[in-house]
Amino acid sequence: MERRKFIRLVGGGIVVAATAPMTGCSLSSDYPDKAVEAWGGPRNEVDPRRYALAFAITAPNPHNIQPWLVDLKESGVITVMTDPDRILPHTDPFGRQILIGHGAFIELLVIALASQGITAEVALWPQGELGPALKDWDSRPIARLTLKNTGAVNDPLFAHVLKRHTPKSDYDLGRKVSDQTLRVLMASVTDKAVRVGGTVTPADLLPLRELCVKSAQVEFLTPRTVLETLQLLRVGPDEILQHRDGLAINTWMARALSTIGLFDRSTPPEKGSQAFKAMMAQMEGNSRTAMGFVWLSGKNGRSDQIHAGRAYVRLQLKATELGLGVHPMSQALQEFPEMAAHYASAHQLTLNRPAPVTPDDETLHMFCRLGYAEKPVPATPRRTLAAFVQA
Ligand SMILES: Cc1cc2nc3c(=O)[nH]c(=O)nc-3n(C[C@H](O)[C@H](O)[C@H](O)COP(=O)(O)O)c2cc1C
Repeated sequence: MERRKFIRLVGGGIVVAATAPMTGCSLSSDYPDKAVEAWGGPRNEVDPRRYALAFAITAPNPHNIQPWLVDLKESGVITVMTDPDRILPHTDPFGRQILIGHGAFIELLVIALASQGITAEVALWPQGELGPALKDWDSRPIARLTLKNTGAVNDPLFAHVLKRHTPKSDYDLGRKVSDQTLRVLMASVTDKAVRVGGTVTPADLLPLRELCVKSAQVEFLTPRTVLETLQLLRVGPDEILQHRDGLAINTWMARALSTIGLFDRSTPPEKGSQAFKAMMAQMEGNSRTAMGFVWLSGKNGRSDQIHAGRAYVRLQLKATELGLGVHPMSQALQEFPEMAAHYASAHQLTLNRPAPVTPDDETLHMFCRLGYAEKPVPATPRRTLAAFVQA
């Protein structure tokens, strides 16, 4: 007899789902090939800027929102701008995380240009900085990269760009992260504007794991912040291919629920609902299998945020080389009022300081769990290269 089970849904409904697979459609949870084609690298790009761009669009970025735009109209120059429609006003009200994503993108551009013997001089904010609040943001560029054929030396991290992925699954509790590995990882941060810290000491891990769980609870129970995430979920091949961004889910179960209209992304899940429990179970699994933590901090001006992003992607590339997982757990770092207590704890536990008040105060920019993923980490979707180039 067919085994069945009940599934409670985000909106609170219940559906009976066969555990036997559906027939007549692919059950693979892999993302559609076209959506992840960026990870195959550049295709016949003659312009060295477009060649570099093909690598840069794989940069890590918050919620995979891919906020980058480039202008290539001026010869020998790449002008980087931010897409005003790609922001996270509730979980990232000051655009700090968006600019970290830009830092990662700029660093990959620089590394991929160097692989072609080209040095990029990076001038940040050529027309002045973006304002402190998202509502003040305008079209002024983030950076102007001027390219020079200098015979630049290849960066060893270039070899890992197309292998870098963020592991969002539980880590192997049987594999510790050694002090030596943590030291090697931390040594990848050489930018003087960025400070790196970390721990693999078991006694330190408990409060940091707890911080991850508690801060996730706040994000999931605050209607506007959880909705921001739910609305960036892309469920099933059609949505994934249509958007090629956001948080992609392609399990057959989620697809089945979505097809029959029972994957509700318009209502915040209530505390105690099955949907809330399912979201928390994932966060708890991730948090409780953290075998170490690493963090980046610095001042909190607009350029500092870019520096943090440049350092972060280098750190994640180094982790890729080491076979180690680095997974940001950003909930406690988010600057919305309901998170304030955890924001303060995060600063106290990692930097031994109170929460920053001004942009000159030391601010936690990235906070990540470390460990070894139990299974291969999938590449996430990216839009086409053309989508990032402003005509
Ligand atoms: C500033 C920043 C914050 C992030 N915060 C989180 C987070 O809280 N949780 C998470 O699962 N991933 C987080 N990520 C990772 C992104 O979700 C990931 O980079 C994106 O989905 C693309 O996937 P990829 O890194 O595997 O290419 C963050 C990345 C950046 C740059």
